[in-house]
Amino acid sequence: MNWGNNPAVMEMKNMGMVRRGLTKCSSFLKSYGPSNLKRLLWDKEYSGDKWDFADHTIGDCVYSHLEKHAANGSILDLGCGSGNTGTELAADSYTRYVGVDISEACLSKAAKRSQESGRAGKNSFECGDFVTYTPSQQFDVILFRESMYHVPMGKITTVLDHYSKYLKDGGTFVVRMKTADPEGNIKQRPAAMIGIIEENFPVVEKCEYPQAASTVITFRPQRQSQNPRPVAAMAERN
Ligand SMILES: C[S@@+](CC[C@H](N)C(=O)[O-])C[C@H]1O[C@@H](n2cnc3c(N)ncnc32)[C@H](O)[C@@H]1O
Repeated sequence: MNWGNNPAVMEMKNMGMVRRGLTKCSSFLKSYGPSNLKRLLWDKEYSGDKWDFADHTIGDCVYSHLEKHAANGSILDLGCGSGNTGTELAADSYTRYVGVDISEACLSKAAKRSQESGRAGKNSFECGDFVTYTPSQQFDVILFRESMYHVPMGKITTVLDHYSKYLKDGGTFVVRMKTADPEGNIKQRPAAMIGIIEENFPVVEKCEYPQAASTVITFRPQRQSQNPRPVAAMAERN
């Protein structure tokens, strides 16, 4: 029997194609859509259990980089999710942490977890689209942890130039991304994003973590002399 012509099999194939199409469409909108649509899509994801696994990432490869570069200073976490970084990072490695996310649903969870872990005094959260968000102070570290995928490819340098103004002198960007699939095959889009960073910014360190199929890259702001910093207007709010 030729199962390929079986109506039930054809129906399942069609459903699979529709599902893949919807996933692609949603991914596209999460990067290129208007902020209110991005917020809706992320809030829907966080209302289910899709991201529950990300609540428990103790020992993640990004933490040693953050702890070293924060050096007891301040961290801005862009696309912070439900608060794993702000609760799992060594508590004595930083004095101030600001998490920004487009989803109110994950931010309320993040704030609750900070409260429960006794860090409410130094952790705070703001709702915003990191493509347009403007910080109100400068930081020692600005982090994109598993969130840079959602910056449109053509806006990566513009967005990083914007945030460069909010890094203190000697401050560092830290970007963590899954750059391979579980079989070790390179993922094209994240790998291309790392390439853009390497081409345009002075890289401090680039570490591959094969077990996590991830790359952590740390780098300094681009073209500092072309980015006059409004230091006086941004005294740290501690
Ligand atoms: C894959 S999750 C990563 C969460 C967390 N950083 C972690 O590593 O567990 C991506 C996060 O980025 C947030 N995000 C996506 N696009 C965003 C945008 N344009 N502005 C702010 N946050 C965004 C999502 O709401 C989500 O919480």
